[in-house]
Amino acid sequence: MRKIIIAGNWKMNKTASEAVKLATLLTRDLADITEVDIVICPPFTALADVHDVVTDTNIGLGAQNLYWEDEGAFTGEVSAPMIKESGAQYVIIGHSERRQFFGETDQTVNKKIKAALKWNLTPIVCVGENLEQREKNKTFDVVSGQCKGSLAGFTAQEMEKMVIAYEPVWAIGTGKTATPAQAQEVHKFIRELISKMHNEDVASSVRIQYGGSVKPENTAELISQEDIDGALVGGASLSSDSFVKIIKNARK
Ligand code: 13P
Repeated sequence: MRKIIIAGNWKMNKTASEAVKLATLLTRDLADITEVDIVICPPFTALADVHDVVTDTNIGLGAQNLYWEDEGAFTGEVSAPMIKESGAQYVIIGHSERRQFFGETDQTVNKKIKAALKWNLTPIVCVGENLEQREKNKTFDVVSGQCKGSLAGFTAQEMEKMVIAYEPVWAIGTGKTATPAQAQEVHKFIRELISKMHNEDVASSVRIQYGGSVKPENTAELISQEDIDGALVGGASLSSDSFVKIIKNARK
C-alpha cells in the first residue's frame, strides 16, 4: 500500500516571516494526521526558519529547485548540500514553470535528480503536457519523453526513492482540474512506463502525485483513483484553511 503524499508548492509566495506564520498554523491544525505524508515547499529564503517550526512535527520540508553542482561560481544558484543543511528532505525538480520560464530540460532535470539523490533529498519530479499537446493527442508521447529523459540512467533502487508529480500544464493555476479519469489514465501510463524501465515492484512502490488546481472539493475523488497517490498543490496550499482541508479529504 502506497502512503498518500500531499505537498504544498508555495512557489514565489511568502516572505520568511509569512512562511513561519503559515507553517505554525499547519503544525497546529495537522498534528493528528498520521495517514498522509505532508510536505511544504516554501521559497529558499524561508527554508531554515520554517525548518525550525516543523522540526519534530509530522510536516516535512522541501525546496522548489536546486542546481546540480555542489558549489562554485554559479551566481544565484542554490545547491543540494545547502538545501540539505537548511533542513529540507525533499526538492521539487522540473516543475513546468521552470521548464517554461527558466529553460529547464529533461537533461537538466536528470542532473538535478542525481544531485538530489547524492545528498539524500527526495526528488519530486514533475512532468506534464500543455494544452496544445493535449489537444493534438500528444499527451502520452510528451509524458513518456519527459519520463524517459528525466529518469534515464537511474537504478531501480534510486527510482524507488523518487516521487513523480503529473501536472498537466493546462490545469495549473487555471481552475481547470483534470477529471479524475483523465488523471488516472496518465498516472497508470507513467506507472507502466516505470515498470518497463525497471520492474513491476519498483513501479508499484513509486508514488505519483497529481497537480493542477487541486482544491478541497476535488481532492477525495482524485485520490480515490487507483494510481493517484497524492497531490502537489499550488494556490490552495497558501492558506492553512484550504491546505488542511485538502489533507483531511485525502485520507483514503
Ligand atoms: P495550482 O494548484 O495553483 O494549480 O498549482 C499546481 C502546481 O503547479 C503545483 O506545483
